[in-house]
Amino acid sequence: MNADGRTRLNQSPEWTALAKHREELAGTHLRDLFAAEPERGAGYTLRVGDLSIDYSKHLVTGETLRLLRELAAARDVFGLRDAMFRGEKINVTEDRAVLHTALRAPRDAVIEVDGENVVPKVHAVLDKMAGFAERVRSGAWTGHTGKRIRNVVNIGIGGSDLGPAMAYEVLRGYTDRELTVRFVSNVDGADLHEATRDLDPAETLFIVASKTFTTIETITNATSARAWLLAALGDEAAVARHFVALSTNAAKVAEFGIDPDNMFEFWDWVGGRYSYDSAIGLSLMIAIGPDRFREMLDGFRLMDEHFRTAPAEANAPLLLGLLGIWYGNFHDAQSHAVLPYSHYLSKFTAYLQQLDMESNGKYVARDGRQVDWQTGPVVWGTPGTNGQHAYYQLIHQGTKLIPADFIGFAEPVAELSAELKAQHDLLMANFFAQTQALAFGKSAEEVRAEGVPEELVPHKTFPGNRPTTTILARELTPSVLGQLIALYEHKVFVQGAVWDIDSFDQWGVELGKVLAKRVEPALTEGAEVPGLDASTKALVARYRELRGR
Ligand code: F6P
Repeated sequence: MNADGRTRLNQSPEWTALAKHREELAGTHLRDLFAAEPERGAGYTLRVGDLSIDYSKHLVTGETLRLLRELAAARDVFGLRDAMFRGEKINVTEDRAVLHTALRAPRDAVIEVDGENVVPKVHAVLDKMAGFAERVRSGAWTGHTGKRIRNVVNIGIGGSDLGPAMAYEVLRGYTDRELTVRFVSNVDGADLHEATRDLDPAETLFIVASKTFTTIETITNATSARAWLLAALGDEAAVARHFVALSTNAAKVAEFGIDPDNMFEFWDWVGGRYSYDSAIGLSLMIAIGPDRFREMLDGFRLMDEHFRTAPAEANAPLLLGLLGIWYGNFHDAQSHAVLPYSHYLSKFTAYLQQLDMESNGKYVARDGRQVDWQTGPVVWGTPGTNGQHAYYQLIHQGTKLIPADFIGFAEPVAELSAELKAQHDLLMANFFAQTQALAFGKSAEEVRAEGVPEELVPHKTFPGNRPTTTILARELTPSVLGQLIALYEHKVFVQGAVWDIDSFDQWGVELGKVLAKRVEPALTEGAEVPGLDASTKALVARYRELRGR
């Protein structure tokens, strides 16, 4: 029993039924499932917006999916979903609403937090962002010396960096190529150095992105950026033309010296990792323009509506969330690979790592008791063809089960030359070949039939039976990006709801932050830090020795 009186997840009859079903399916190969259901390819595909989501190459039958949906129903996933969309405070440990969906709600929607409709505030900020973005793009917003802004540098970390940095890469084909847009996150001074070394301060706008405006990495980098600017322009007044802030914390923004008029607001009901469609997306909006940004929001909204209204059998985030639970909890899979076949999605998996692992990397259930079931997986991956020549060996023939999402597009990006567009079929041939090889493998008989010497047969045999989801769209547009991100946001939500954890806090990152603050004086001044363990003490001593201190 949970402290709240509910049956604990792994003692529920739905869980037990799935465990039994898993035993019954042991030894069934994807080859058998496809032989039994010849129409499986088309039958196990969902169409949502611009996305086709093929889940036929999963180790599931209709019965598996039914049992998984029963688990979701028993855990009241849709009840919690509705509470989220209504603005209830489902982030229990921080007593906050979870309303990233309000960031893309239409102007006439009504979503209340503590009795206040938040939708007008959302649109007021979007309009203010659009006005500012247009002024920068048109050259109407100039720097302190009157020069046009040609460089935009976003300074932020975690959710205040990964989203806009990822989306900027994804939508490069839609960006104003006259603008240089860079992202600085690491407190390693090399990051800011490399981002600014070839820029003219008089043409550079810094966007300081921080929900709390207290994050040490961001404030340190922003302080150094201000010093870099002032060293060149020599006038404090320059800050007002070269610094804007994206934050929930107006007081801290003012304390830093940024004019509150140059602050773009968001709210505590937007989690950092769910924030890039809020004011945090300003750098992206400047790069792609407000219209494209709104198209992206439309894509998010399309997926929100799908998640909110589609029945369980046809609900894509529910399905993907449950498939992850099937592997993580019933097949002992420890990780999940996301493998995009698009160069533009090079930062997509890094973005999903925060979304998924910061949300569901929890060992304590919502009632405060430790879970005794697995929660969030390790999420990893890089663009597909590069991965094929690196780590795919382990996915094909290793001893670990690694479910994977393959994401690809029918059309190359419009901007490519005809010659480069012609490479697209080769890219996509790899995309389709890999999921086929992973699912069906190559049997020893097939290997022998090729005349392979007997001693090499086991080495050249592929067991197959490695599950994948294939997500295919016509083109990587702003709307498709929004659809994809919302799909993963809601997938993560589904899993957190089933696992009975709070997907919206992140207490686990706090301890390291506190300790870093405590250790710093030991490095700089050799201060005696109480409570430093013997290993760290010796390492700090060696560090100081190496630095000649
Ligand atoms: O350290 C984790 C974290 O709190 C993330 O959740 C967040 O996205 C990131 O730090 C940055 O926080 P902020 O936007 O407040 O600077």
